[in-house]
Amino acid sequence: MAITLCVVFILVAASIHDCDGVLRFASYYKDHMVLQKSPERAVVWGYGSEGAQVTFTLSGQKQQNISQATVTNGTWRVTLDPVEAGGPYNVTAAVQNITAVLTDVLFGDVWLCGGQSNMLFKVSGIFNTSEELKRAAHYPHVRTFMASLKKSETEQTDLIGVQIPWSVQPANLAGFSAVCWLFGRNLFDKLQYPIGLVESGWGNTPIEAWSSARALQQCGLESKSRKHYRSPQENSVLWNAMIHPLLNMTIKGAIWYQGEANYIYHQKKYNCSFPAMIDDWRMAFHQGSGGQTAPDFPFGFVQVCYFE
Ligand SMILES: *[C@@H]1O[C@H](CO)[C@@H](O)[C@H](O)[C@H]1NC(C)=O
Ligand SMILES: *[C@@H]1O[C@H](CO)[C@@H](O)[C@H](O)[C@H]1NC(C)=O
Ligand SMILES: *[C@@H]1O[C@H](CO)[C@@H](O)[C@H](O)[C@H]1NC(C)=O
Ligand SMILES: *[C@@H]1O[C@H](CO)[C@@H](O)[C@H](O)[C@H]1NC(C)=O
Ligand SMILES: *[C@@H]1O[C@H](CO)[C@@H](O)[C@H](O)[C@H]1NC(C)=O
Ligand SMILES: *[C@@H]1O[C@H](CO)[C@@H](O)[C@H](O)[C@H]1NC(C)=O
Ligand SMILES: *[C@@H]1O[C@H](CO)[C@@H](O)[C@H](O)[C@H]1NC(C)=O
Repeated sequence: MAITLCVVFILVAASIHDCDGVLRFASYYKDHMVLQKSPERAVVWGYGSEGAQVTFTLSGQKQQNISQATVTNGTWRVTLDPVEAGGPYNVTAAVQNITAVLTDVLFGDVWLCGGQSNMLFKVSGIFNTSEELKRAAHYPHVRTFMASLKKSETEQTDLIGVQIPWSVQPANLAGFSAVCWLFGRNLFDKLQYPIGLVESGWGNTPIEAWSSARALQQCGLESKSRKHYRSPQENSVLWNAMIHPLLNMTIKGAIWYQGEANYIYHQKKYNCSFPAMIDDWRMAFHQGSGGQTAPDFPFGFVQVCYFE
């Protein structure tokens, strides 16, 4: 009898919470995530009822009561005080008695991994996959997240979907980017503090798809695109859906593995379009994070050999 009552209570509580839908974090702020450590300050944002005052608390090794934020145009946003590497922490957002909580949050360096199929190539496809997956259990502080492959004709505020939620290894690692994972694992070996890896890439896509209209304009590429608008190869469609939504998150840097799709497409412009995209991402992440992401953040890339 007691068990039955308890179950009913939980269901009711859950449905109240869902129906309200009034207080939640943006799609890529979830349990097990990594937020950027000090000296930068992590930016966190989400949704709420118009005008509500949201109060934030960070609990863990250190406690922080973060100043309130007001919901404007359906969203709230807060910049945390700098937090040294470590964790776990809980980040709680509260409006009166309604709360939204991120649990098991670590602070470390957050890296974005972008590009086409070579970046998408999965851990399940590399040499010694099973050993690599077993070994990954020794890296519970390298956390992984992957955005869904989505395109949009307009700049999106949030991701349209999440392919792999923030994960503690080895959960969900087989389907994650091998290059991104090995990069993060090597960083952890050197740095010995948490690393957050955000994969946002799509196979067979040209740089134009990942570039804002601003960046394309720099290289005279802003004119009408080459394919049907439904294609992920269209100008700016992946910038709009898979990069723009992430601009508000504080990141340490980015790595990029792309170029093949441009060997037959605007190849001669790549010497302009690639540096223009890097400049534009740096500027946009700096602005989106309210100055927290460095305006000259490290941008690592694989040089694909020349082809004519
Ligand atoms: C975070 O919240 C979870 C679930 O409520 C709780 O079990 C855990 O003790 C909390 N951790 C911290 C560091 O507050
Ligand atoms: C945070 O606020 C709570 C409730 O007002 C208070 O009990 C606690 O001492 C505060 N913690 C810090 C670190 O200021
Ligand atoms: C809210 O949205 C309106 C209409 O789109 C816009 O004019 C206003 O600047 C926005 N306010 C903020 C604080 O972003
Ligand atoms: C929050 O408090 C209000 C009024 O005190 C109450 O009506 C409501 O049911 C409470 N909501 C939750 C989720 O507890
Ligand atoms: C795969 O594992 C074997 C045995 O541990 C090792 O000899 C080999 O170098 C590994 N291959 C790669 C590509 O790491
Ligand atoms: C890019 O390469 C073309 C030749 O393919 C050259 O004319 C142009 O000056 C180069 N631009 C830059 C910025 O290096
Ligand atoms: C995210 O950053 C963009 C670009 O600076 C800004 O227009 C937008 O309002 C920000 N979103 C939130 C929720 O702060």
